[in-house]
Amino acid sequence: MKEHLIELTVNGKGRRLRVKPNELLLNVLRNDLNLTGTKYGCGIGECGACTVLIEGRPMLSCLTLAVSVDGQNITTIEGIGGTKLDPIQESFLEHGAVQCGFCTPGMILTTKALLEENPSPTEDEIREYIRGNICRCTGYTSIVKAIAECNREKC
Ligand code: FES
Ligand code: FES
Repeated sequence: MKEHLIELTVNGKGRRLRVKPNELLLNVLRNDLNLTGTKYGCGIGECGACTVLIEGRPMLSCLTLAVSVDGQNITTIEGIGGTKLDPIQESFLEHGAVQCGFCTPGMILTTKALLEENPSPTEDEIREYIRGNICRCTGYTSIVKAIAECNREKC
């Protein structure tokens, strides 16, 4: 299958990659760029573990062809916080919103997009926004609290 040259900006860094037309962004991130914080959960768009930000919007990288995001900005969990934890990550830790951690990168990136769009979400708005991110461990209460408190602490 013929490969295509694509150029992405991933976590602020320019990347040139040769990809097959059917290659998924999730696999490019994990296998070619070694950004394994993006998780492979269901692979069919149902769990949200593979969420990344594409031009600031939360998207499922397991349903995104790499060629379709040529020229775009991608942010993965490795791209937030710099040398310190992002305040959202701090809030998740403080509120015990992480157990096995598998859902956490996607949940954090979805939260980042939420707080950019709506800095003061209600509990209902938080639950609605994160509805595509499935957590099998926490029961969501601690996650919702971490997001709400993070907002109050100016994440
Ligand atoms: S791995 Fe993408 S939604 Fe589950
Ligand atoms: S902390 Fe385990 S799936 Fe969310």
